[in-house]
Formats: sequence, structure tokens, C-alpha cells
Amino acid sequence: MTIHFANVDKRFGQVEALQDVSLTVSDGEFVSLIGPSGCGKTTMLRIAAGLETPSGGAVTVNGDTPKNACRQHQIGVAFQRPALLASRTALRNVSMTLEITGREGALSPGELLTDFGLGGFHDHYPHQLSGGMQQRVNIAAALVHNPPILLLDEPFGALDELTRESMGEWLGAVLNRSSKTVIFVTHSVEEATILSDRIVVLSARPGRISEIIEVDMPRPRSRENRTDDDFLHEVARVRSSLYRAVEMSE
Ligand SMILES: Nc1ncnc2c1ncn2[C@@H]1O[C@H](COP(=O)(O)OP(=O)(O)O)[C@@H](O)[C@H]1O
Ligand SMILES: [Mg+2]
Repeated sequence: MTIHFANVDKRFGQVEALQDVSLTVSDGEFVSLIGPSGCGKTTMLRIAAGLETPSGGAVTVNGDTPKNACRQHQIGVAFQRPALLASRTALRNVSMTLEITGREGALSPGELLTDFGLGGFHDHYPHQLSGGMQQRVNIAAALVHNPPILLLDEPFGALDELTRESMGEWLGAVLNRSSKTVIFVTHSVEEATILSDRIVVLSARPGRISEIIEVDMPRPRSRENRTDDDFLHEVARVRSSLYRAVEMSE
């Protein structure tokens, strides 16, 4: 599954959110988007999910429209704010995705929640869970039908640093078991570096691609990698690029 952005512009009235964004995310590739607040990262994901249409240019998913890819349940999406039903338990929020999409090739909702550190919380309702736990249920619900494409918008943003690292490791392991094409939005340079094949650095609004950095380390990467010189070197490279992207727009 490939996702192709071709010269994408997006305007909201007077606001120019994205300008001439061209990017191809290849089958099985993990690409992170990083850039200052308001530079259009969420907008790029929403366009790839078929929730917004570009003002100029086009996005295709395996040659088809994002809307069609979504209809065929090929895309799993988790946005910043968990989209959980208050009247359903954690387990039933996750299995709801299967009720909508069918169960073919699906993962087990219970096992998925347990893998996410929520083994004792299957029967809890959203209001009984912390924000970080709700977000984990949200991601499990995006993954359970095993879609070939995952779009994740700052999914670990509300978690404390160590939980966040564990979630990243777990996501890396899931992707190692069943390869997926992923676009991942994050504020964290370290998180982008540990997870990605490539990191797309966007300038401040209007979001343009400032630089694309290839992370030159085999995936999946483990906790041990975080203290490697190679890793720290890559992190520094990404951070400098982000500084350049912000300067470019000032
Ligand atoms: N539906 C919308 N209507 C008007 N403006 C919007 C809408 N969605 C996003 N924007 C604007 O587009 C810009 C990019 O937003 P967004 O994609 O959310 O940025 P990011 O996720 O990088 O923080 C922001 O200035 C935001 O206010
Ligand atoms: Mg955003």
C-alpha cells in the first residue's frame, strides 16, 4: 500500500495550511511528520484519511482515492483525542471496529488491550480510565482490524515518557509482525527517530516540506538503541533540521 501526495495545497478560507506538498510513502514504510504547531500535520493525515480534500494537487492510496481506501477498511486512524463511546467498555470499544469492518484477519481485541498494558481494564468504561489509557484503547481500536495503513496523530502525546517509550516499542513489534504503511505525527524528535524509516520535517504555516531525513538504522529498534551513539547522532541531525525548518519560516 502506498500513499502518494502530489503537489498538495490546502486552504481553509484565508488560512493557507499546506503548500505544494509532494511525498510518497512506500509499502511497509514508517514515515513521521514533525514540525511546529499549526504547520498542517493533522491536515495531511485528514487528507490521507479522506476526511478533507486538497484545495490543489491530489492524494492517492494505492492509486485510488483515500475515501475509497477508507470504505474498504484499508486505513486505521487514531487522532489526538480518543474517539471512544462512553457507554461501552474498553473491550467493546475495540471490538466495535470489528463490528463495522468485519473480522477477516483481525487481531484479538482482548490480547491487543493486554499487549497495551490494559489487561485488567477490559471491563472498564472510558470515564474510569486515565487519558493515557483511553488513548491506548483508541489506538487498539484503530489496529484491531489489521488495516494495511495506519495514520496516527500524536498518539502517545498524553503519556508519560516511559509509558510512551513502551508504547513505541510495542508498536514497533506489531509492525514487525505484520508490515504496515504508517504515517505518524509526533512532537518528539526522539520518538520519530526511534520509529521511522524517514522523517518529514515541515516548515511553519503554510506547511511545506523543509527536509526529508532517512534514519540510517535497521528497524525495529529497541530500548538499547536509545543510548547508542548512532541513535544520538541521528537525533541531533533531525533536531538541527527542525531548527532550520523553523528559521526558514521566520
Ligand atoms: N477545519 C479547519 N478550519 C479552519 N482552519 C483549520 C481547520 N483545520 C485546520 N485549520 C488550520 O490549519 C492550520 C494547520 O492545522 P493542523 O493541520 O491542525 O496543524 P498541526 O497538526 O500541524 O498542528 C492551522 O492554522 C489550523 O488552525
Ligand atoms: Mg495536529
